[in-house]
Amino acid sequence: MQLINPDIKPHTLKCETKRIWLVADLHLDALTFRADLLEKAKGLIKDDPVIGLGDMMDIGFYDNVYSQLKRQAALGGSKASREEIREEFGIAAMKKTDEALELFNWIAMVEGNHDERQKKKTGDNYLKHACKKKGIIFEEGQLLLDIVTGKKLNTTDRHLRILAMHGSRGGRRAGAVLNELEDIWSTWFGVDVIAIGHHHQADIRPMTRNVANQREICKEITWLVAVPSFLGWEEYAQKRGYKPPVHGVFRINVNNTGGIFKPVFEFLG
Ligand SMILES: [Fe+2]
Repeated sequence: MQLINPDIKPHTLKCETKRIWLVADLHLDALTFRADLLEKAKGLIKDDPVIGLGDMMDIGFYDNVYSQLKRQAALGGSKASREEIREEFGIAAMKKTDEALELFNWIAMVEGNHDERQKKKTGDNYLKHACKKKGIIFEEGQLLLDIVTGKKLNTTDRHLRILAMHGSRGGRRAGAVLNELEDIWSTWFGVDVIAIGHHHQADIRPMTRNVANQREICKEITWLVAVPSFLGWEEYAQKRGYKPPVHGVFRINVNNTGGIFKPVFEFLG
């Protein structure tokens, strides 16, 4: 038995591109943000469409602005009221968000836990607002992109379905990422790629299941993908004995006649 689930609305796109990229966890304003890796990624990706998996921003930048303004206020400076501080902080957040959206040809984006912090601090969701202004799909929960990539031999549309979300759990072992991906996979069927960021780790794994169609049994393959970050080996990670990070982005070749959408990891460093 199947019922319509109104909680998730798929976004359908006609895609005339050859590749779609997955980019995660830029943390643009973090101290250990690696601008050199971003430049490498820009060189690879160029104008291709990109899906962002959240944590575009860190929170350090906003905290710095916020605490400076508060200090000024405490010392009797120009920014005296809570409203003024919040307004100034909001302007800084908006400017930085606009800059971030110029980096790639973003087609869709999901909210990360660090993006959410900015929202909580200012009371406004600038990333969501900026995405809307530019026509970029934005989701705070799970994002299902249904991309029409051409025609099958029988002339019906060929679809690539990508489920993207930021990810949420902790866990430093290699298995933690795949456990989260497998749990998400177990709640979906009919998806080609499931992608998360958040863990700052790179991984890819095909998962299979049988589908009982009316006349034949099919094997469905879903690629589970964890996309790493643009952060260096942060001090907290060193203190806790985490592994130094690996960096890269994933490319999905869209323009193929066989309908095989295997994501490919592009190593950046
Ligand atoms: Fe992150």
